[in-house]
Amino acid sequence: MIQIRPETPADADAIHRVHVAAFPTEVEARLVDALRANNRTLISLVADDDGDIVGHILFTPVTFADGDPTARGAGLAPLAVVPARQRRGIGAMLIGAGIQACRDAGVGFVVVLGEPAYYQRFGFARAADRGLTNEYGVFDEFMVIETAPRALTRIGGLVKYAPEFQEAAP
Ligand SMILES: CC(C)(COP(=O)(O)OP(=O)(O)OC[C@H]1O[C@@H](n2cnc3c(N)ncnc32)[C@H](O)[C@@H]1OP(=O)(O)O)[C@@H](O)C(=O)NCCC(=O)NCCS
Repeated sequence: MIQIRPETPADADAIHRVHVAAFPTEVEARLVDALRANNRTLISLVADDDGDIVGHILFTPVTFADGDPTARGAGLAPLAVVPARQRRGIGAMLIGAGIQACRDAGVGFVVVLGEPAYYQRFGFARAADRGLTNEYGVFDEFMVIETAPRALTRIGGLVKYAPEFQEAAP
């Protein structure tokens, strides 16, 4: 049975392998390792199938370029499910549990760069419509969900992911 639970130190190698299996290159696996090493982890959950790690989701803090200190946001990335176990709802379980964990941790909003058709079903909507821009030149694919009431009412601007994301960019 699949259990969604927080990452523990013993999971690091298995999480690396999940990302290597799910993505075309090792960029995401190395990115997760670098983010962990640099203490950027806000929420990190694994999908544990009786001891077998088959999925992982990470949330790291995002900031605004203008340095607005009132904003407490998270970036959802990366997310991966091993190919043999995809399309069975594990990704959805990780996203749902991750968003709830962000709410519980007092995070105000979560941004994601991804496929709108996939993320809309979890309540994400185009971030530009809430006054948020990104460093990647994308429009519809940059989405946000509020995880605290009215968290986005008075803030906005250019959202910056942790510097490790820039270093990982090809
Ligand atoms: C994206 C990913 C995590 C989804 O995990 P999953 O366990 O297969 O997801 P779920 O089973 O919850 O949902 C599957 C549904 O989402 C849809 N879906 C999955 N990825 C999608 C995508 N990139 N674009 C559009 N739809 C997508 C599928 O069509 C499927 O819908 P359907 O079953 O109604 O046809 C997984 O496909 C994966 O690891 N992909 C490679 C890594 C990646 O691209 N990660 C996301 C970017 S960080």
